[in-house]
Amino acid sequence: MIKIRKHQQKDIPYRVKWLSNPNVNKFIGDELGQKTNLQKEKEWFANYLKNRNKKFFTICDNSKPIGFIGLSNISKPNKNADLFIAIGEDDYRGKGIGKIAMEWIIDYGFKKLKLHKINLGVTKDNISAVKLYQSLGFVIEGEMRDEVFYEGKFYNFLSMAIFNRNQNKK
Ligand SMILES: CC(C)(COP(=O)(O)OP(=O)(O)OC[C@H]1O[C@@H](n2cnc3c(N)ncnc32)[C@H](O)[C@@H]1OP(=O)(O)O)[C@@H](O)C(=O)NCCC(=O)NCCS
Repeated sequence: MIKIRKHQQKDIPYRVKWLSNPNVNKFIGDELGQKTNLQKEKEWFANYLKNRNKKFFTICDNSKPIGFIGLSNISKPNKNADLFIAIGEDDYRGKGIGKIAMEWIIDYGFKKLKLHKINLGVTKDNISAVKLYQSLGFVIEGEMRDEVFYEGKFYNFLSMAIFNRNQNKK
């Protein structure tokens, strides 16, 4: 059973494992393919605890952590945020778990945080991710050509967003 709980200190070693996995880091991070380590993730977590504009969660198969999902740059004035997701464990991708987690965080963002818009950025060649986002109602707002570089090649990058159409504007 898929459970989603708060990101915790004990998740740091999992973050190192997942973000070092080429199947994950070729699609995620400021620089694609970037490596991480325990020290960097400890620092990330310490900053995370101080940052009120970030809410991250651990996706679990029962008690086993398998990935993370989160909102960053949460702007109360603009009622928007940026979404990040990674199913870190190879055996758990393509089984519908990303979809469950995405539906959960969209609901959290719109109902709990009262956001109007959730943004994300994705490499255009990340076909499964783009399809998943479109199936949930994300639309492409822009395409940046040759925006990211990975293993000798430039890739286009899509800006996508989903809007909360049921929200009053107070
Ligand atoms: C992208 C990611 C979060 C998707 O999660 P997932 O659990 O693997 O995806 P799901 O099994 O929930 O698939 C949901 C939908 O995505 C699409 N999809 C999934 N795998 C696919 C594939 N191999 N090819 C085409 N479409 C695919 C389908 O539309 C699917 O819906 P359907 O099965 O009802 O047709 C996950 O694969 C992942 O973490 N990848 C590595 C990191 C990453 O790319 N993060 C996102 C950066 S923007």
